[in-house]
Amino acid sequence: MAQLEQIAAPGSEWWRSAVIYQIYPRSFADASGDGIGDLPGITSRLDSLRDLGIDAIWLSPFMTSPQKDAGYDVADYRDVDPLFGTLADFDEMLAEAHTRGIRVIVDLVPNHSSDQHVWFQEALKAGPGSPERARYVFRDGKGKNGELPPNNWESVFGGGMWERVVEADGAPGQWYLHIFDPTQPDFDWTNEEVKEEFRSILRFWLDRGVDGFRVDVAHGMVKEAGLPDYAPVADADSMGGGEENVPYWGQNDVHDIYRDWHELLAEYDGDRALCGEAWLPTLKKTALWVRPDEMHQTFNFPYLMTPWDAKALGDVIRESLDEFGKVGAPSTWVLSNHDVVRHASRLALTADNPQGEGIGPETPSKPDTKIGLARARAATMLMLALPGSAYLYQGEELGLPEAMEIPDEFRQDPTWFRTNGERYGRDGCRVPLPWEADAPAFGFNGTGLSWLPQPAEWATYARDTETADESSTLSLYKRLLSARRERGFGSGSLVWEDAGKDAVAFRRGDVHVLANLGTKPLPLPAGATVVLASQSFTGAAVPVDTAVWYTTA
Ligand code: NOJ
Repeated sequence: MAQLEQIAAPGSEWWRSAVIYQIYPRSFADASGDGIGDLPGITSRLDSLRDLGIDAIWLSPFMTSPQKDAGYDVADYRDVDPLFGTLADFDEMLAEAHTRGIRVIVDLVPNHSSDQHVWFQEALKAGPGSPERARYVFRDGKGKNGELPPNNWESVFGGGMWERVVEADGAPGQWYLHIFDPTQPDFDWTNEEVKEEFRSILRFWLDRGVDGFRVDVAHGMVKEAGLPDYAPVADADSMGGGEENVPYWGQNDVHDIYRDWHELLAEYDGDRALCGEAWLPTLKKTALWVRPDEMHQTFNFPYLMTPWDAKALGDVIRESLDEFGKVGAPSTWVLSNHDVVRHASRLALTADNPQGEGIGPETPSKPDTKIGLARARAATMLMLALPGSAYLYQGEELGLPEAMEIPDEFRQDPTWFRTNGERYGRDGCRVPLPWEADAPAFGFNGTGLSWLPQPAEWATYARDTETADESSTLSLYKRLLSARRERGFGSGSLVWEDAGKDAVAFRRGDVHVLANLGTKPLPLPAGATVVLASQSFTGAAVPVDTAVWYTTA
Protein backbone atom coordinates (compact mmCIF):
# COMPACT_ATOMS: atom_id res chain seq x y z
CA MET A 1 0.00 0.00 0.00
CA ALA A 2 2.88 2.39 0.71
CA GLN A 3 3.38 3.04 -2.98
CA LEU A 4 -0.29 3.59 -3.63
CA GLU A 5 -0.33 6.37 -1.08
CA GLN A 6 2.30 8.23 -3.08
CA ILE A 7 -0.25 8.49 -5.87
CA ALA A 8 -3.17 9.54 -3.76
CA ALA A 9 -3.50 9.34 -0.02
CA PRO A 10 -6.57 7.54 1.35
CA GLY A 11 -9.47 9.94 1.38
CA SER A 12 -8.18 11.87 -1.58
CA GLU A 13 -10.67 10.23 -3.93
CA TRP A 14 -8.11 9.00 -6.43
CA TRP A 15 -10.82 8.05 -8.92
CA ARG A 16 -11.67 11.71 -9.58
CA SER A 17 -8.58 12.19 -11.73
CA ALA A 18 -7.22 8.68 -12.36
CA VAL A 19 -6.16 7.34 -15.73
CA ILE A 20 -7.63 3.85 -15.80
CA TYR A 21 -6.39 1.29 -18.32
CA GLN A 22 -8.84 -1.39 -19.42
CA ILE A 23 -7.41 -4.88 -19.68
CA TYR A 24 -9.40 -7.35 -21.76
CA PRO A 25 -7.85 -10.44 -20.13
CA ARG A 26 -8.33 -12.87 -23.02
CA SER A 27 -6.34 -10.59 -25.34
CA PHE A 28 -3.72 -8.95 -23.14
CA ALA A 29 -0.99 -11.55 -22.49
CA ASP A 30 -1.10 -15.33 -22.47
CA ALA A 31 1.27 -17.07 -20.02
CA SER A 32 -0.20 -20.57 -20.53
CA GLY A 33 0.25 -20.46 -24.31
CA ASP A 34 -3.25 -21.76 -25.13
CA GLY A 35 -4.06 -18.73 -27.29
CA ILE A 36 -6.23 -17.00 -24.68
CA GLY A 37 -4.78 -14.40 -22.33
CA ASP A 38 -4.74 -15.04 -18.57
CA LEU A 39 -4.03 -13.57 -15.14
CA PRO A 40 -0.39 -14.74 -14.91
CA GLY A 41 0.07 -13.11 -18.33
CA ILE A 42 -1.19 -9.82 -16.91
CA THR A 43 1.14 -10.10 -13.91
CA SER A 44 4.10 -10.71 -16.20
CA ARG A 45 3.42 -7.50 -18.14
CA LEU A 46 2.62 -5.12 -15.27
CA ASP A 47 5.97 -3.36 -15.59
CA SER A 48 4.99 -2.15 -19.03
CA LEU A 49 1.84 -0.56 -17.57
CA ARG A 50 3.83 1.08 -14.78
CA ASP A 51 6.18 2.47 -17.45
CA LEU A 52 3.21 3.73 -19.44
CA GLY A 53 2.18 5.83 -16.43
CA ILE A 54 -1.42 4.81 -15.67
CA ASP A 55 -3.00 4.91 -12.19
CA ALA A 56 -5.31 1.89 -12.26
CA ILE A 57 -6.39 -1.09 -14.32
CA TRP A 58 -9.91 -2.35 -14.91
CA LEU A 59 -10.16 -6.03 -15.81
CA SER A 60 -13.04 -7.26 -17.96
CA PRO A 61 -14.54 -10.47 -16.45
CA PHE A 62 -12.27 -13.41 -15.64
CA MET A 63 -14.76 -15.26 -13.42
CA THR A 64 -16.02 -18.79 -14.09
CA SER A 65 -17.97 -18.68 -17.33
CA PRO A 66 -18.85 -20.79 -20.37
CA GLN A 67 -17.62 -17.77 -22.40
CA LYS A 68 -20.71 -17.40 -24.55
CA ASP A 69 -20.22 -13.63 -24.33
CA ALA A 70 -16.48 -13.57 -23.58
CA GLY A 71 -17.01 -13.84 -19.82
CA TYR A 72 -19.96 -11.43 -19.53
CA ASP A 73 -21.93 -14.60 -18.79
CA VAL A 74 -20.82 -15.49 -15.27
CA ALA A 75 -21.51 -18.95 -13.84
CA ASP A 76 -19.68 -18.44 -10.53
CA TYR A 77 -19.07 -14.90 -9.30
CA ARG A 78 -16.60 -16.00 -6.64
CA ASP A 79 -14.08 -17.95 -8.66
CA VAL A 80 -11.66 -17.53 -11.57
CA ASP A 81 -12.32 -19.42 -14.79
CA PRO A 82 -9.57 -22.01 -15.41
CA LEU A 83 -8.99 -20.31 -18.79
CA PHE A 84 -7.60 -17.33 -16.88
CA GLY A 85 -5.98 -19.08 -13.90
CA THR A 86 -6.93 -19.41 -10.25
CA LEU A 87 -7.91 -17.21 -7.32
CA ALA A 88 -4.28 -17.45 -6.17
CA ASP A 89 -3.21 -16.04 -9.56
CA PHE A 90 -5.67 -13.21 -9.04
CA ASP A 91 -4.31 -12.46 -5.56
CA GLU A 92 -0.78 -12.42 -6.91
CA MET A 93 -1.70 -10.12 -9.79
CA LEU A 94 -3.47 -7.76 -7.36
CA ALA A 95 -0.52 -7.67 -4.96
CA GLU A 96 1.96 -7.11 -7.79
CA ALA A 97 -0.17 -4.30 -9.23
CA HIS A 98 -0.41 -2.62 -5.82
CA THR A 99 3.33 -2.93 -5.35
CA ARG A 100 3.74 -0.92 -8.53
CA GLY A 101 1.26 1.72 -7.35
CA ILE A 102 -1.47 0.51 -9.72
CA ARG A 103 -5.02 0.13 -8.39
CA VAL A 104 -7.27 -2.68 -9.60
CA ILE A 105 -10.94 -2.51 -10.56
CA VAL A 106 -12.83 -5.66 -11.48
CA ASP A 107 -15.92 -6.11 -13.61
CA LEU A 108 -19.19 -6.91 -11.87
CA VAL A 109 -21.96 -8.35 -14.04
CA PRO A 110 -25.20 -7.96 -12.04
CA ASN A 111 -27.84 -7.64 -14.77
CA HIS A 112 -27.67 -11.28 -15.78
CA SER A 113 -25.82 -14.50 -15.07
CA SER A 114 -24.85 -17.36 -17.32
CA ASP A 115 -27.51 -19.97 -17.95
CA GLN A 116 -24.96 -22.34 -16.36
CA HIS A 117 -25.15 -20.49 -13.02
CA VAL A 118 -26.45 -22.84 -10.32
CA TRP A 119 -29.39 -20.51 -9.63
CA PHE A 120 -30.57 -20.66 -13.23
CA GLN A 121 -30.19 -24.42 -13.36
CA GLU A 122 -32.26 -24.64 -10.16
CA ALA A 123 -34.85 -22.29 -11.65
CA LEU A 124 -35.25 -24.51 -14.70
CA LYS A 125 -35.83 -27.56 -12.51
CA ALA A 126 -38.04 -25.91 -9.89
CA GLY A 127 -40.88 -24.87 -12.19
CA PRO A 128 -43.35 -21.97 -12.45
CA GLY A 129 -44.17 -20.01 -9.31
CA SER A 130 -41.15 -21.28 -7.37
CA PRO A 131 -38.76 -19.05 -5.38
CA GLU A 132 -35.97 -20.35 -7.65
CA ARG A 133 -37.71 -18.90 -10.74
CA ALA A 134 -38.34 -15.64 -8.88
CA ARG A 135 -34.61 -14.87 -8.97
CA TYR A 136 -34.90 -14.39 -12.74
CA VAL A 137 -37.61 -12.89 -14.96
CA PHE A 138 -39.82 -15.85 -15.91
CA ARG A 139 -43.28 -15.17 -17.35
CA ASP A 140 -46.05 -17.16 -19.00
CA GLY A 141 -46.27 -16.60 -22.74
CA LYS A 142 -49.12 -14.95 -24.61
CA GLY A 143 -51.39 -16.71 -27.12
CA LYS A 144 -53.72 -19.64 -26.66
CA ASN A 145 -51.04 -21.98 -25.33
CA GLY A 146 -48.45 -19.49 -24.18
CA GLU A 147 -46.67 -19.92 -27.48
CA LEU A 148 -45.97 -16.19 -27.94
CA PRO A 149 -43.34 -14.24 -25.98
CA PRO A 150 -44.65 -12.12 -23.07
CA ASN A 151 -43.86 -8.88 -24.92
CA ASN A 152 -42.17 -7.56 -28.07
CA TRP A 153 -38.76 -6.58 -26.67
CA GLU A 154 -35.74 -7.20 -28.90
CA SER A 155 -32.36 -8.43 -27.68
CA VAL A 156 -29.33 -6.14 -27.96
CA PHE A 157 -27.59 -8.96 -29.82
CA GLY A 158 -30.46 -9.40 -32.31
CA GLY A 159 -33.61 -11.53 -32.25
CA GLY A 160 -36.21 -11.57 -29.47
CA MET A 161 -35.51 -10.91 -25.78
CA TRP A 162 -37.38 -14.01 -24.53
CA GLU A 163 -36.56 -17.70 -24.60
CA ARG A 164 -39.08 -20.45 -23.95
CA VAL A 165 -38.13 -23.30 -21.64
CA VAL A 166 -39.19 -26.93 -21.60
CA GLU A 167 -40.75 -27.84 -18.25
CA ALA A 168 -39.91 -30.97 -16.24
CA ASP A 169 -42.81 -32.88 -17.84
CA GLY A 170 -41.36 -32.25 -21.32
CA ALA A 171 -44.02 -29.72 -22.33
CA PRO A 172 -43.15 -26.23 -23.65
CA GLY A 173 -43.39 -23.89 -20.69
CA GLN A 174 -42.61 -20.39 -19.45
CA TRP A 175 -40.36 -17.79 -21.05
CA TYR A 176 -37.38 -16.03 -19.50
CA LEU A 177 -36.00 -12.60 -20.27
CA HIS A 178 -32.52 -12.00 -21.68
CA ILE A 179 -31.53 -8.48 -22.77
CA PHE A 180 -28.43 -10.05 -24.34
CA ASP A 181 -27.88 -13.66 -25.46
CA PRO A 182 -30.31 -16.47 -24.42
CA THR A 183 -27.38 -17.86 -22.40
CA GLN A 184 -27.51 -14.65 -20.30
CA PRO A 185 -30.81 -14.71 -18.32
CA ASP A 186 -31.64 -11.43 -16.53
CA PHE A 187 -31.93 -11.40 -12.74
CA ASP A 188 -35.04 -9.97 -11.11
CA TRP A 189 -33.68 -7.02 -9.13
CA THR A 190 -36.92 -6.58 -7.20
CA ASN A 191 -36.04 -9.83 -5.41
CA GLU A 192 -34.36 -9.33 -2.01
CA GLU A 193 -32.44 -12.58 -2.38
CA VAL A 194 -30.73 -11.24 -5.54
CA LYS A 195 -29.81 -8.03 -3.71
CA GLU A 196 -28.33 -9.95 -0.79
CA GLU A 197 -26.36 -12.24 -3.07
CA PHE A 198 -24.70 -9.30 -4.82
CA ARG A 199 -23.86 -7.59 -1.52
CA SER A 200 -22.03 -10.77 -0.63
CA ILE A 201 -20.26 -10.89 -4.03
CA LEU A 202 -19.11 -7.29 -3.61
CA ARG A 203 -17.72 -8.16 -0.18
CA PHE A 204 -15.95 -11.21 -1.57
CA TRP A 205 -13.84 -9.07 -3.93
CA LEU A 206 -13.49 -6.10 -1.57
CA ASP A 207 -12.15 -8.44 1.11
CA ARG A 208 -9.53 -9.62 -1.39
CA GLY A 209 -8.43 -6.00 -1.77
CA VAL A 210 -9.88 -4.73 -5.05
CA ASP A 211 -10.14 -0.96 -5.37
CA GLY A 212 -13.51 -0.92 -7.08
CA PHE A 213 -15.92 -2.26 -9.66
CA ARG A 214 -16.94 -1.45 -13.18
CA VAL A 215 -20.66 -2.26 -13.14
CA ASP A 216 -21.87 -3.93 -16.33
CA VAL A 217 -25.23 -2.80 -17.78
CA ALA A 218 -25.75 -0.40 -14.88
CA HIS A 219 -28.68 1.10 -16.78
CA GLY A 220 -30.58 -2.15 -17.35
CA MET A 221 -30.92 -3.95 -14.04
CA VAL A 222 -34.45 -2.77 -13.27
CA LYS A 223 -37.28 -3.15 -15.79
CA GLU A 224 -40.49 -1.13 -15.95
CA ALA A 225 -43.23 -2.77 -13.87
CA GLY A 226 -45.62 -4.78 -16.03
CA LEU A 227 -42.99 -5.17 -18.79
CA PRO A 228 -44.94 -3.11 -21.38
CA ASP A 229 -44.37 -3.58 -25.12
CA TYR A 230 -41.71 -1.45 -26.75
CA ALA A 231 -40.00 -1.51 -30.13
CA PRO A 232 -36.87 0.58 -30.66
CA VAL A 233 -36.62 2.90 -33.65
CA ALA A 234 -34.74 1.29 -36.53
CA ASP A 235 -31.39 3.02 -36.07
CA ALA A 236 -31.32 2.96 -32.25
CA ASP A 237 -27.96 2.35 -30.64
CA SER A 238 -27.87 -1.30 -29.67
CA MET A 239 -26.67 -0.67 -26.12
CA GLY A 240 -29.63 1.65 -25.68
CA GLY A 241 -27.89 5.00 -25.82
CA GLY A 242 -30.24 6.60 -28.27
CA GLU A 243 -33.70 6.76 -26.80
CA GLU A 244 -35.75 8.06 -23.85
CA ASN A 245 -38.36 6.01 -21.99
CA VAL A 246 -37.18 2.52 -22.86
CA PRO A 247 -38.81 0.09 -20.37
CA TYR A 248 -35.57 -1.84 -19.79
CA TRP A 249 -33.07 1.04 -19.72
CA GLY A 250 -32.57 3.76 -17.16
CA GLN A 251 -35.42 2.95 -14.78
CA ASN A 252 -35.56 5.01 -11.58
CA ASP A 253 -35.48 2.18 -9.06
CA VAL A 254 -32.00 1.23 -10.14
CA HIS A 255 -30.66 4.15 -8.09
CA ASP A 256 -31.62 2.50 -4.79
CA ILE A 257 -29.29 -0.39 -5.63
CA TYR A 258 -26.34 1.96 -6.15
CA ARG A 259 -27.08 3.84 -2.93
CA ASP A 260 -26.97 0.51 -1.13
CA TRP A 261 -23.65 -0.42 -2.76
CA HIS A 262 -22.20 3.03 -2.13
CA GLU A 263 -22.75 2.52 1.61
CA LEU A 264 -21.30 -0.96 1.43
CA LEU A 265 -18.11 0.27 -0.26
CA ALA A 266 -17.81 3.09 2.26
CA GLU A 267 -17.46 0.51 5.04
CA TYR A 268 -14.09 -0.42 3.51
CA ASP A 269 -10.90 1.58 3.90
CA GLY A 270 -8.91 3.07 1.05
CA ASP A 271 -11.44 4.83 -1.11
CA ARG A 272 -13.07 2.10 -3.22
CA ALA A 273 -15.05 3.16 -6.27
CA LEU A 274 -17.94 2.13 -8.51
CA CYS A 275 -17.98 2.99 -12.19
CA GLY A 276 -21.24 2.45 -14.06
CA GLU A 277 -21.55 1.23 -17.61
CA ALA A 278 -24.70 3.14 -18.48
CA TRP A 279 -25.63 3.89 -22.09
CA LEU A 280 -28.22 6.64 -21.67
CA PRO A 281 -29.70 9.12 -24.13
CA THR A 282 -28.42 12.34 -22.52
CA LEU A 283 -25.60 13.54 -20.29
CA LYS A 284 -28.21 15.04 -17.98
CA LYS A 285 -29.60 11.58 -17.36
CA THR A 286 -26.14 9.98 -17.18
CA ALA A 287 -25.21 12.39 -14.38
CA LEU A 288 -28.00 10.91 -12.22
CA TRP A 289 -25.86 7.76 -11.94
CA VAL A 290 -23.15 9.70 -10.08
CA ARG A 291 -25.04 11.75 -7.55
CA PRO A 292 -23.03 11.97 -4.30
CA ASP A 293 -24.54 8.85 -2.72
CA GLU A 294 -24.55 6.64 -5.86
CA MET A 295 -21.79 5.52 -8.20
CA HIS A 296 -18.50 7.41 -8.11
CA GLN A 297 -18.01 7.50 -11.86
CA THR A 298 -19.90 6.57 -14.97
CA PHE A 299 -18.61 6.18 -18.52
CA ASN A 300 -19.11 9.19 -20.74
CA PHE A 301 -20.50 7.41 -23.81
CA PRO A 302 -21.93 10.56 -25.44
CA TYR A 303 -18.28 11.77 -25.57
CA LEU A 304 -17.08 8.45 -26.99
CA MET A 305 -19.77 8.50 -29.69
CA THR A 306 -19.03 12.07 -30.82
CA PRO A 307 -17.78 12.24 -34.41
CA TRP A 308 -14.58 14.11 -35.41
CA ASP A 309 -16.24 17.49 -35.60
CA ALA A 310 -15.06 20.58 -33.74
CA LYS A 311 -18.46 21.93 -32.78
CA ALA A 312 -19.82 18.57 -31.66
CA LEU A 313 -16.70 17.80 -29.64
CA GLY A 314 -16.57 21.21 -27.98
CA ASP A 315 -20.28 20.97 -27.13
CA VAL A 316 -20.05 17.52 -25.58
CA ILE A 317 -17.06 18.51 -23.44
CA ARG A 318 -18.86 21.65 -22.23
CA GLU A 319 -22.02 19.73 -21.47
CA SER A 320 -20.13 16.94 -19.68
CA LEU A 321 -18.29 19.34 -17.40
CA ASP A 322 -21.54 21.14 -16.75
CA GLU A 323 -23.80 18.15 -16.06
CA PHE A 324 -21.31 16.11 -14.00
CA GLY A 325 -20.23 19.30 -12.23
CA LYS A 326 -23.82 19.95 -11.12
CA VAL A 327 -23.84 16.70 -9.13
CA GLY A 328 -20.28 17.13 -7.84
CA ALA A 329 -18.89 14.20 -9.85
CA PRO A 330 -15.84 14.14 -12.08
CA SER A 331 -16.50 13.67 -15.76
CA THR A 332 -14.93 10.59 -17.24
CA TRP A 333 -13.50 10.52 -20.76
CA VAL A 334 -13.20 7.45 -22.94
CA LEU A 335 -12.51 6.89 -26.62
CA SER A 336 -12.29 3.10 -26.93
CA ASN A 337 -13.34 -0.09 -25.19
CA HIS A 338 -14.09 -3.74 -26.01
CA ASP A 339 -17.58 -2.92 -27.36
CA VAL A 340 -16.83 -0.25 -29.94
CA VAL A 341 -14.73 0.15 -33.08
CA ARG A 342 -11.23 1.26 -31.99
CA HIS A 343 -10.96 5.03 -32.20
CA ALA A 344 -7.93 4.85 -34.54
CA SER A 345 -10.44 3.51 -37.09
CA ARG A 346 -13.73 4.94 -35.86
CA LEU A 347 -12.67 8.57 -36.14
CA ALA A 348 -12.00 8.10 -39.87
CA LEU A 349 -15.30 6.38 -40.68
CA THR A 350 -17.09 8.01 -43.59
CA ALA A 351 -20.44 6.25 -43.13
CA ASP A 352 -22.75 5.60 -40.19
CA ASN A 353 -21.67 2.65 -38.06
CA PRO A 354 -23.98 2.10 -35.06
CA GLN A 355 -22.47 0.56 -31.94
CA GLY A 356 -22.19 -3.22 -32.32
CA GLU A 357 -22.09 -3.17 -36.12
CA GLY A 358 -18.30 -3.42 -36.41
CA ILE A 359 -16.24 -3.39 -39.58
CA GLY A 360 -15.51 -6.49 -41.66
CA PRO A 361 -14.29 -7.65 -45.06
CA GLU A 362 -17.54 -6.63 -46.79
CA THR A 363 -17.93 -3.20 -45.18
CA PRO A 364 -18.15 -0.84 -48.20
CA SER A 365 -16.30 2.21 -46.85
CA LYS A 366 -13.42 1.11 -44.68
CA PRO A 367 -11.70 3.91 -42.77
CA ASP A 368 -8.30 5.19 -43.89
CA THR A 369 -5.72 3.95 -41.37
CA LYS A 370 -3.42 6.95 -41.67
CA ILE A 371 -6.15 9.54 -41.19
CA GLY A 372 -7.61 7.44 -38.36
CA LEU A 373 -4.33 7.27 -36.49
CA ALA A 374 -3.64 10.99 -36.84
CA ARG A 375 -7.10 11.78 -35.49
CA ALA A 376 -6.81 9.21 -32.71
CA ARG A 377 -3.53 10.71 -31.50
CA ALA A 378 -4.99 14.20 -31.60
CA ALA A 379 -8.17 13.07 -29.83
CA THR A 380 -6.17 11.39 -27.07
CA MET A 381 -3.99 14.47 -26.68
CA LEU A 382 -7.12 16.54 -26.18
CA MET A 383 -8.69 13.99 -23.83
CA LEU A 384 -5.66 13.74 -21.55
CA ALA A 385 -5.73 17.50 -21.05
CA LEU A 386 -9.30 17.42 -19.70
CA PRO A 387 -10.13 17.52 -15.98
CA GLY A 388 -11.59 14.26 -14.71
CA SER A 389 -10.78 10.59 -15.04
CA ALA A 390 -9.71 9.09 -18.37
CA TYR A 391 -10.17 5.49 -19.49
CA LEU A 392 -7.76 3.89 -21.96
CA TYR A 393 -8.40 0.59 -23.72
CA GLN A 394 -5.52 -1.85 -24.13
CA GLY A 395 -3.76 -1.38 -27.45
CA GLU A 396 -4.83 2.21 -28.05
CA GLU A 397 -1.46 3.29 -26.64
CA LEU A 398 0.03 1.45 -29.65
CA GLY A 399 -2.38 3.18 -32.04
CA LEU A 400 -3.96 -0.15 -32.98
CA PRO A 401 -6.66 0.08 -35.63
CA GLU A 402 -9.73 -2.14 -35.70
CA ALA A 403 -8.91 -5.58 -37.18
CA MET A 404 -11.11 -5.42 -40.27
CA GLU A 405 -10.29 -8.66 -42.10
CA ILE A 406 -11.09 -11.40 -39.55
CA PRO A 407 -12.22 -14.53 -41.44
CA ASP A 408 -15.77 -15.56 -40.55
CA GLU A 409 -14.74 -18.88 -39.03
CA PHE A 410 -12.85 -17.12 -36.23
CA ARG A 411 -15.65 -14.79 -35.19
CA GLN A 412 -17.01 -15.26 -31.68
CA ASP A 413 -19.20 -12.28 -30.83
CA PRO A 414 -22.80 -13.45 -30.28
CA THR A 415 -23.91 -10.39 -32.28
CA TRP A 416 -22.45 -12.00 -35.41
CA PHE A 417 -24.39 -15.23 -34.86
CA ARG A 418 -27.67 -13.69 -33.66
CA THR A 419 -27.83 -11.41 -36.72
CA ASN A 420 -26.70 -14.12 -39.16
CA GLY A 421 -23.63 -12.14 -40.06
CA GLU A 422 -25.53 -8.94 -40.74
CA ARG A 423 -23.53 -7.20 -38.00
CA TYR A 424 -19.84 -8.07 -37.61
CA GLY A 425 -19.97 -7.20 -33.92
CA ARG A 426 -17.05 -6.49 -31.66
CA ASP A 427 -14.33 -9.05 -32.44
CA GLY A 428 -12.35 -6.49 -34.44
CA CYS A 429 -11.44 -4.51 -31.31
CA ARG A 430 -10.61 -7.63 -29.28
CA VAL A 431 -7.66 -9.12 -31.16
CA PRO A 432 -4.69 -10.10 -28.91
CA LEU A 433 -2.03 -7.43 -28.41
CA PRO A 434 1.32 -7.35 -30.22
CA TRP A 435 4.22 -7.14 -27.75
CA GLU A 436 7.30 -8.13 -29.77
CA ALA A 437 7.52 -7.77 -33.55
CA ASP A 438 9.63 -10.89 -34.12
CA ALA A 439 8.10 -13.33 -31.60
CA PRO A 440 5.35 -15.95 -32.11
CA ALA A 441 1.91 -14.30 -31.89
CA PHE A 442 3.90 -11.05 -31.60
CA GLY A 443 4.85 -12.03 -28.04
CA PHE A 444 1.23 -12.49 -26.88
CA ASN A 445 2.49 -15.93 -25.82
CA GLY A 446 5.32 -18.30 -26.67
CA THR A 447 3.34 -20.74 -28.80
CA GLY A 448 2.02 -18.54 -31.58
CA LEU A 449 -1.62 -19.43 -30.85
CA SER A 450 -4.16 -16.64 -30.81
CA TRP A 451 -7.94 -16.97 -30.31
CA LEU A 452 -8.45 -14.29 -32.98
CA PRO A 453 -5.87 -13.96 -35.76
CA GLN A 454 -3.53 -10.98 -35.49
CA PRO A 455 -3.09 -9.00 -38.73
CA ALA A 456 0.44 -9.46 -40.15
CA GLU A 457 0.97 -5.70 -40.32
CA TRP A 458 0.65 -5.48 -36.54
CA ALA A 459 4.42 -6.09 -36.31
CA THR A 460 4.78 -2.36 -36.87
CA TYR A 461 2.58 -1.69 -33.83
CA ALA A 462 4.42 -4.10 -31.50
CA ARG A 463 5.38 -2.62 -28.15
CA ASP A 464 9.09 -3.28 -28.58
CA THR A 465 9.13 -1.53 -31.98
CA GLU A 466 7.23 1.44 -30.58
CA THR A 467 9.32 1.63 -27.40
CA ALA A 468 12.39 2.20 -29.53
CA ASP A 469 10.72 4.90 -31.63
CA GLU A 470 10.42 8.43 -30.21
CA SER A 471 7.71 9.28 -32.73
CA SER A 472 5.53 6.24 -32.00
CA THR A 473 2.06 6.39 -30.50
CA LEU A 474 3.38 4.62 -27.40
CA SER A 475 6.04 7.28 -26.88
CA LEU A 476 3.38 9.96 -27.31
CA TYR A 477 1.12 8.32 -24.69
CA LYS A 478 4.01 8.11 -22.22
CA ARG A 479 4.86 11.78 -22.69
CA LEU A 480 1.21 12.79 -22.38
CA LEU A 481 0.57 10.74 -19.24
CA SER A 482 3.69 12.01 -17.56
CA ALA A 483 2.93 15.65 -18.43
CA ARG A 484 -0.71 15.22 -17.37
CA ARG A 485 0.38 14.02 -13.96
CA GLU A 486 3.09 16.64 -13.56
CA ARG A 487 0.74 19.48 -14.46
CA GLY A 488 -2.23 18.15 -12.48
CA PHE A 489 -4.52 18.18 -15.52
CA GLY A 490 -6.75 15.50 -13.98
CA SER A 491 -8.28 18.02 -11.60
CA GLY A 492 -9.17 21.70 -11.68
CA SER A 493 -10.99 23.48 -14.45
CA LEU A 494 -10.39 24.75 -17.95
CA VAL A 495 -10.80 28.09 -19.68
CA TRP A 496 -12.26 27.97 -23.20
CA GLU A 497 -10.44 29.78 -25.97
CA ASP A 498 -11.61 30.82 -29.42
CA ALA A 499 -9.48 29.50 -32.28
CA GLY A 500 -12.17 29.43 -34.95
CA LYS A 501 -14.88 27.02 -35.98
CA ASP A 502 -12.53 24.17 -36.91
CA ALA A 503 -10.73 24.05 -33.56
CA VAL A 504 -11.32 22.82 -30.06
CA ALA A 505 -9.23 25.11 -27.86
CA PHE A 506 -8.89 25.70 -24.14
CA ARG A 507 -6.31 26.61 -21.54
CA ARG A 508 -5.14 24.62 -18.52
CA GLY A 509 -3.08 26.99 -16.37
CA ASP A 510 -0.35 28.31 -18.62
CA VAL A 511 -0.77 25.52 -21.18
CA HIS A 512 -2.96 26.13 -24.21
CA VAL A 513 -4.55 23.09 -25.83
CA LEU A 514 -5.52 23.29 -29.49
CA ALA A 515 -6.85 20.61 -31.83
CA ASN A 516 -7.34 21.17 -35.54
CA LEU A 517 -10.39 19.27 -36.81
CA GLY A 518 -10.68 21.28 -40.01
CA THR A 519 -9.29 20.95 -43.51
CA LYS A 520 -6.44 23.49 -43.48
CA PRO A 521 -3.55 24.29 -41.10
CA LEU A 522 -4.35 26.55 -38.13
CA PRO A 523 -1.81 29.27 -37.28
CA LEU A 524 -0.40 29.34 -33.76
CA PRO A 525 -0.29 32.71 -31.99
CA ALA A 526 2.98 34.66 -32.24
CA GLY A 527 5.47 33.62 -29.56
CA ALA A 528 3.89 30.18 -29.05
CA THR A 529 6.20 27.38 -27.90
CA VAL A 530 4.94 23.88 -28.55
CA VAL A 531 5.25 21.68 -25.43
CA LEU A 532 3.85 18.54 -27.04
CA ALA A 533 2.27 17.75 -30.40
CA SER A 534 0.29 14.72 -31.55
CA GLN A 535 2.56 14.59 -34.60
CA SER A 536 5.69 16.51 -35.45
CA PHE A 537 5.44 19.49 -37.80
CA THR A 538 7.55 22.42 -38.86
CA GLY A 539 6.42 26.02 -39.11
CA ALA A 540 3.96 27.99 -37.05
CA ALA A 541 0.69 26.34 -38.13
CA VAL A 542 -0.94 23.25 -36.65
CA PRO A 543 -1.62 20.70 -39.42
CA VAL A 544 -5.01 19.14 -40.04
CA ASP A 545 -5.97 16.33 -37.60
CA THR A 546 -3.30 17.42 -35.13
CA ALA A 547 -3.40 18.63 -31.53
CA VAL A 548 -0.82 20.61 -29.58
CA TRP A 549 -0.15 21.74 -26.06
CA TYR A 550 1.71 25.06 -26.18
CA THR A 551 2.74 27.99 -24.01
CA THR A 552 3.22 31.64 -24.87
CA ALA A 553 5.99 33.92 -23.67
C1 NOJ B 1 -21.69 -4.69 -21.70
C2 NOJ B 1 -20.35 -5.32 -21.93
O1 NOJ B 1 -19.38 -4.32 -22.02
C3 NOJ B 1 -20.49 -6.15 -23.17
O2 NOJ B 1 -19.26 -6.61 -23.65
C4 NOJ B 1 -21.43 -7.29 -22.88
O3 NOJ B 1 -21.66 -8.04 -24.05
C5 NOJ B 1 -22.77 -6.79 -22.35
N1 NOJ B 1 -22.63 -5.73 -21.40
C6 NOJ B 1 -23.51 -7.90 -21.69
O4 NOJ B 1 -22.93 -8.21 -20.46
